[in-house]
Amino acid sequence: MTAPARTLFVTTALPYANGPFHIGHIMEYIQADIWVRFQRMRGHTVHFVGADDAHGAPIMIAAEKEGLSPQDFVARIAAGRKAYLDGFHISFDHWHSTDSPENTELSQSIYRGLKAHGLIDVRRVEQFFDPVKGMFLPDRYIKGECPACGAKDQYGDSCEACGSVYSPTELKNPYSALSGAQPELRSSDHYFFRLSDPRCQAFLREWTAGTDRHGEPRLQPEVLAKAQEWLGDGAEGGSLADWDISRDAPYFGIEIPDAPGKYFYVWLDAPIGYLASLKAHCAKRGIDFAALLADPATEQVHFIGKDIIYFHVLFWPATLKFGGHKTPDRVNVHGFITVSGEKMSKSRGTGISPLRYLEIGMNPEWLRYYIAAKLNARVEDVDFNPDDFVARVNSDLVGKYVNIASRAANFVNRHFDGKLAALAADASDPHAARAAELEAAVAAAYEGREFGRAIRLVMAYADEVNQYFDANKPWELAKDPARRDALHEVCSRCLLAFHRMTILLAPILPATAARVEAFFGTPGLRWDDLGVRPGTASPARAIGRYEHLMTRVDPKSFDALFEPPAPAGAPDAGAAAVSAAGAGAAPSGQPPGAPAPLSIDEFAKLDLRVARIVAAEAVEGSDKLLRLTLDLGEGRTRTVFSGIKAAYEPDRLVGRMTVVIANLAPRKMKFGISEGMVLSASADDPAQPAALFLLDVDEGARPGMKVR
Ligand code: 2FM
Ligand code: ZN
Repeated sequence: MTAPARTLFVTTALPYANGPFHIGHIMEYIQADIWVRFQRMRGHTVHFVGADDAHGAPIMIAAEKEGLSPQDFVARIAAGRKAYLDGFHISFDHWHSTDSPENTELSQSIYRGLKAHGLIDVRRVEQFFDPVKGMFLPDRYIKGECPACGAKDQYGDSCEACGSVYSPTELKNPYSALSGAQPELRSSDHYFFRLSDPRCQAFLREWTAGTDRHGEPRLQPEVLAKAQEWLGDGAEGGSLADWDISRDAPYFGIEIPDAPGKYFYVWLDAPIGYLASLKAHCAKRGIDFAALLADPATEQVHFIGKDIIYFHVLFWPATLKFGGHKTPDRVNVHGFITVSGEKMSKSRGTGISPLRYLEIGMNPEWLRYYIAAKLNARVEDVDFNPDDFVARVNSDLVGKYVNIASRAANFVNRHFDGKLAALAADASDPHAARAAELEAAVAAAYEGREFGRAIRLVMAYADEVNQYFDANKPWELAKDPARRDALHEVCSRCLLAFHRMTILLAPILPATAARVEAFFGTPGLRWDDLGVRPGTASPARAIGRYEHLMTRVDPKSFDALFEPPAPAGAPDAGAAAVSAAGAGAAPSGQPPGAPAPLSIDEFAKLDLRVARIVAAEAVEGSDKLLRLTLDLGEGRTRTVFSGIKAAYEPDRLVGRMTVVIANLAPRKMKFGISEGMVLSASADDPAQPAALFLLDVDEGARPGMKVR
C-alpha cells in the first residue's frame, strides 16, 4: 500500500438524454477515468458512476415530436451509451438514469429535508402559457420582436441583433416557438429553495473557501473567485437569489411531495442522480449505500465543465447540506474542447463525432493520450489540433515509449530466449535510481490532475532510456560474444524501464498496459509493482514474443474524421441518408455514392420550404401512405401523400414543422393529387420501413420559409 486506503465516490456531469455523446463528454470522461484508474492502481476503493440526465421540458418536447414517450425516447439514447464508454475505455462502475425509483426517492427525501429546515417558500409566479400546447413555456420557447430594436424572432431573454437583455413578457408580438400561438400570461404557485436565507449564505461562503481532507482547496482558484463573486461581499442577506425549483405539469420530472401537478425543475433532481446511481451500484454489489454515503471517510469528488459551475458549487452543496447529506469534498472543473483554436462547428467541418473516430479505426488510446497531454488542473480549454495530435502520438507515444520495447525486445528474444537479466533495482541501474523520484513526481501529477505534466515526466524518462540504448549500441554488442552479458544487461534495463513506464502510463493507456502485462507475464499491475523502493523488485522477469503495441496515426485519417458522417446505419443523429418520401415513394435511401455533383444553379431549382403539418391521416387502401395537409404559408393548404406510415402515428405529426419540396409538379395518384414531397432521412434498408425520420426545423422557423 502506497498510502492509507481511501474510499472515493467519483462522478462526471450527467449528460442530457437528448442526443449522443459529443467529444466534450468524452474528454470529461477520459479526464475522470484517468484519475479514477490512478486511484485504483494505488489500491484505493473507487465508486465511479454516471447516469443520463433524463428530465426536463426539452426532452419531453423532443420525445413528443418523435411520437415517443419521454421514457422510450430516453431509453433509446441510453442504449447508445455503451459503445462510446467501452470504445474509449471509460471504466464507470455503473451507469444509471435520473428517471429512476432511486432518484425519485432521494429527491423527494432531500426536498423534505429542505422543507423541514424552513427553506421552501411557495410564491405566485406569472409566466407565458401556450394555450395550444396547454403548458407554461420555458423562456427558450418564447420568441418575438426585440423590445429595444424591433428585430424579429428573438428569444425570450435576449436579442441576438442588439444584445439587449429583457424578460419574455417585454417581447413585442410574442409567439410560442412550439405552436406558433400567441402566449397568454397566467400565474401559478412555484416552489422556491430559499438560498437567500443567511444559513445558506454562511454555509456556502465557508464551503466554497474550504479545503478537502488532504488540506487542498476544494475549488480551483478561478472557480472560487467566481463563487465569491456570485455570493457577494457578505453584506446582510448576501446576493444569492432564491431558486425556483418547481415546474407545472405537463413536465417530465419527479413529482413534488404534497404539491399536486408540480414537478422538480430538472436541475434539482439532476445532481441527486449522482447519489441515485451510487445507490443502484451499491445494490448491485451488496454495499450498504446509506452507510457508504454517510461515512465521513468517503470522499465525494465531481468532475464537471465550466458551464455548470454555478449549479455545482452553490445549488448542489446547499441542497445536500440542508437536505440531510454530506457535502462534496471537491468539484474539479475543466474547460471546453476547441478544434484548431476555434469552437467546434459542424458547418465548418470541424465537428468531431466520437463514434466516427472509433468507426474509422482510430485508436481510442491516441485520443486518451492526446487529451491527457493537454490537461492540467486549471479551467482551461483543451485544443484539438490534428498536427499536434499526430506529432504527440507518433513522435512521443510511439516514437519514444513503444520504441523502447520494440528495440530491446528484439535482442532479448533473439539472444536470451526472452529471459531478462537478474538485475538489482538499485543505484547501479541509472533508470531504477531515477525511477523512485520519477514515480513520486508522476503520482503527485496524477493526484493533482496535472496529466500533461505526468506525460512530460514519463517522456523525459523515455528520452533518457532511448539515449542509454543508443549510447550502448546493442547492435554492436550483439556481434561480440565476449560482450554478451553487457548486451543482456543493457536490453534488460531498457525493458524494465519500459515496464515501469507502462505502469506510470497505465491510467492513460489501459488497453496497452494490459497487452504489456501479457507480454511480461505480470497481470494486474499496480503502482506498487514499480519496484522502485528499497527491497522491492520489478515483477518483470521475462518477455513473450514481441508484437507491435501501437501503430502510428496516419494523418489522412483526419480527412475521414472531419468529413460529414457516413450515411446508412450510423447511429449518430444526422448520419442517415436524406431522401424524399412523398408522392407515394417508398422510403428509400439514395444509392451510396450515386449523386453526381450539382451546380448551385441546379440546386436553386429546388424550392424547399418549411411546412407545418396541419392534419395527417392514414389513406384507406394503402399500407404505406399518410395523407398530410400542409401549411406552407401560402394562405391555403396543400395535400401531400407521403410514404411514412410505417414510421409515424398520424396524430403525433399534427402541429410539427418539417421540410418539403414545394415545386414538384403535382402528381395524380390513385388516392388524389399530391402537391409536393416531404423530406425524410432513412436507414437505407427496405427491411426496416420504420427506420425513417422526418426532417426537423429549429424553433422560430415559420411555414413558408425558404430552405437553402
Ligand atoms: O449541462 C448538462 O449537460 C447537464 N445535463 C449536467 C447535469 S450534471 C448533474 F447535475 F447531473
Ligand atoms: Zn434588439
